[in-house]
Amino acid sequence: MSAKVSIIGAGMTGATTAHWLAERELADIVLVDIAEGMPQGKALDLQEAMPVIGKDVEIIGSNSFEATQNSDIIVITAGLPRKPGMSRDDLLTANAKIVGSATTESLKYSPDAIFIVLTNPLDTMAYLAMKLGHLPRERIIGQAGILDSARMRAFVAMETGVSVENINCYVLGGHGDEMVPLTRTSNIAGVPLRDYLPPAKLEEIVNRTRKGGGEIVNLLKTGSAFYAPSAAIAQMVEAILKDKHLIVPCAAFMNGEYGLHDMFFGAPVQLGRKGLERIIEYKLDEEETVALHKSAAAVKDTTKALEHLVKF
Ligand code: APR
Repeated sequence: MSAKVSIIGAGMTGATTAHWLAERELADIVLVDIAEGMPQGKALDLQEAMPVIGKDVEIIGSNSFEATQNSDIIVITAGLPRKPGMSRDDLLTANAKIVGSATTESLKYSPDAIFIVLTNPLDTMAYLAMKLGHLPRERIIGQAGILDSARMRAFVAMETGVSVENINCYVLGGHGDEMVPLTRTSNIAGVPLRDYLPPAKLEEIVNRTRKGGGEIVNLLKTGSAFYAPSAAIAQMVEAILKDKHLIVPCAAFMNGEYGLHDMFFGAPVQLGRKGLERIIEYKLDEEETVALHKSAAAVKDTTKALEHLVKF
């Protein structure tokens, strides 16, 4: 295939991302992990599935970044996942080291690649990768908003029985418990969600969305969500490789948008072959603005904590 996507971290999310990508026949895929034999084994297993599903995709597993040479997109999922009782921010110290080295190593072999970061705490890890890799903001995007919005859409679908395809939900803000699910702009086939569901039910859905990651962590006990996060990455990869100019919520570097500077934050962004094409700014009401600034303050706190750990 002409396109190449390398996934750093072949754990639950990385390997499932490879699965979704292979099914869509979007690109050849490289899985890199520090665990010996594991990325090779998963890649070979997936490669052997290709004749069954009829997709001509090459999938390689490796413990070396050399295999990622000339990738169009690098997806970083390497890191520790959350365990029960841990917040995303608890992962900061361990994951900063892992994401830092994944970024610099990947850039040695693919200096022009677009980076998609998934490792938590997401907004801060994307910031770290951008600074360490000296990347322009077009080439580094965090995966979070598609997942958070998808969770909200799923909950609305469960409540209403309407097809997920008719349900449009928008979640702004950091990928943490302070995220801002927008009930005013979210809608079912154009009907505002606020007109469709009673306030108490809406509030329940908003709270469940905010805590959606924790709900899965508590059920799984040994790790965090991976199906929905990896499906979200696949949508971003497809939008970029097919130059779709697709508007989806993602974490992007803010240059004054929403009054925010020098940080990653979740907002609707347009994705195309060059990566981030633009950030869409909603007109927010007062309540949404207050919630957004609360979320931004939480992201800033984690980013400040990172600056004590790493010198840029
Ligand atoms: N280089 C490459 N791979 C690494 C490195 C490294 N330096 N350090 C760790 N890994 C690998 C691990 O060996 C493991 O296979 O990263 C993989 C992570 O996979 P899982 O433990 O299954 O975690 P996963 O559920 O995929 O989550 C990964 O995504 O959603 C976030 O919070 C989550 O930060 C976590 C990340």
